[in-house]
Amino acid sequence: MSESAKLSFKGQEYEFPVITGTENESAIDIAKLRGASGLITLDPGFKNTGSTTSAITFLDGEEGILRYRGYKIEDLAEKSSFLEVAYLLIYGELPSQAEYENFSKEITHHTLVHEDIKKILEGFPSNAHPMGVLSSLICSLTAFYPDSLNPNRSEEEVNMSIIRLLAKMPTFAAWAYKNEVGHPVNYPDNSLDYCSNFLKMMFALPAEKYDVDPVVSAALDKLLILHADHEQNCSTSTVRVVGSSQASIYASISAGINALWGPLHGGANQSVIEMLEAIKADGGDAKKYLDKAKDKNDPFRLMGFGHRVYKNFDPRARIIKKAADDVLTKLGVNDPVLDIAKELEHAALNDQYFIDRKLYPNVDFYSGIIYRALGIPTDMFTVMFALGRLPGWIAQWKEMRENGEPIGRPRQIYVGANERDYVSMNKR
Ligand code: MLT
Repeated sequence: MSESAKLSFKGQEYEFPVITGTENESAIDIAKLRGASGLITLDPGFKNTGSTTSAITFLDGEEGILRYRGYKIEDLAEKSSFLEVAYLLIYGELPSQAEYENFSKEITHHTLVHEDIKKILEGFPSNAHPMGVLSSLICSLTAFYPDSLNPNRSEEEVNMSIIRLLAKMPTFAAWAYKNEVGHPVNYPDNSLDYCSNFLKMMFALPAEKYDVDPVVSAALDKLLILHADHEQNCSTSTVRVVGSSQASIYASISAGINALWGPLHGGANQSVIEMLEAIKADGGDAKKYLDKAKDKNDPFRLMGFGHRVYKNFDPRARIIKKAADDVLTKLGVNDPVLDIAKELEHAALNDQYFIDRKLYPNVDFYSGIIYRALGIPTDMFTVMFALGRLPGWIAQWKEMRENGEPIGRPRQIYVGANERDYVSMNKR
C-alpha cells in the first residue's frame, strides 16, 4: 500500500502520493497540487523541497552520514583515489582494473588544451579572481568543441566531453593561478598522476627542477575525494537547472563554478583564512574573537563553523582534521595563522556556547588550513573545491539528462502592484 498525504483547504480535501527512497526518506509528490487545488508551495532556499530523486549521494545531517553510491565517505577517503571515486560517481559502480586504467589513460591523454586558450587567458588582468578565469575557460570549451553544444549527442560523444572536463580542469585551474602571479604557464606532465600533475603545473618554475611531495599529493587526493559530491547543494542544483534547459555540459559546469564562488558556498574556505589573517593582524587574540562571536550585538561571525545540513558534525571535517594534523606534522609547518585556527578549534569543540549551537569546525575550516599548509594561495581555495566537486557535478548533470528531467522553472507568489492605468509622469 503506497502512502499518501492529505491537505484540506477552503473546505476541500486533497490527497497526494508520498514517495519513499531507499534510505526511508519520504516526500509528498506535489506534481498535481496546482492543477487540483490552485495552490503552489513556497519554500525560499528550498530547505524543505526536493528537486529530484537521485541515486548518486546520500547524506544524513543528523547522523553525520555521507555516502557516494552507497560507499561510506570514510572508506573512500581512506582506501580509494580521486579518479576511482570520480568513476564511481559518474558511472555508478567502482571500475574494474581495466576500466580504471582506461579511464585514467583517457584523462591523461586529454590534459593538454588548445594553444588558443592561452590567448583568452592572456586577456585577463593579473588581479582577475581565479574562479572567474576558471569558469570562463571551461565555458570556452564550447567554442573549441562545438559539437558539445548539443547535449543529446551519442553516449560516446557525451563521454568524450566528460573526459575532457576531468582532464582539462586541473590545467585551467593551474593556469588561472599562473595568470594571477604573472608566471608562464606549465604544460601537463603526463608521466604524473592526477594530483601530482596539477601540483607541478601550479608550482613548477622555469629553469628550476620541481619534485612533487608525495605527502602533499596524497593529502590533495583525499581532499578532492571529500569534496566530490554533496547531494543538491547550491552549485549542483545550478548545474542541474542550467543543464535542464539543454545547455551544453560545459556551460552547465561553468555555471556551477560561478555558483560555488559565493562565500556562503564554496568561498567559505577562503573566508576562513581571511578571518584568521584578520585576527592575526589584530594581535592574534583568539579569545577576543571567540567573545565577539558570542556577543549578539557584535557583527563578527566565525567562518568555518557549523553547517546548514549537518546538525551534529560534518563527517568530512573529521577526516580532514586528521589529514590536516598529519600534513602539518609531516611538513613541519609553523604558521601563527594556523596556531590561531587551533585555538578556535579547541574552543569550538569544548566551549558549551559553541557546542550548544552546533558550531563545530566544518569541512571549510580544515580544508582552508590544509590548502594554506600545502602552499596553495587563499583565493585558489575555492578553485580547489571546484576541482573536487567536478565529478559530482558531472554525475548529477548526466543523471538529470538520462532521466529526461523537465526544464527547471519554479513558480512564485506575486506581491507587487495590482493592475493600474498608465499615466506618464513625463511631459514629452
Ligand atoms: C557542499 O559540500 O556543497 C557544502 O557543504 C554545501 C552544502 O552541501 O550545502
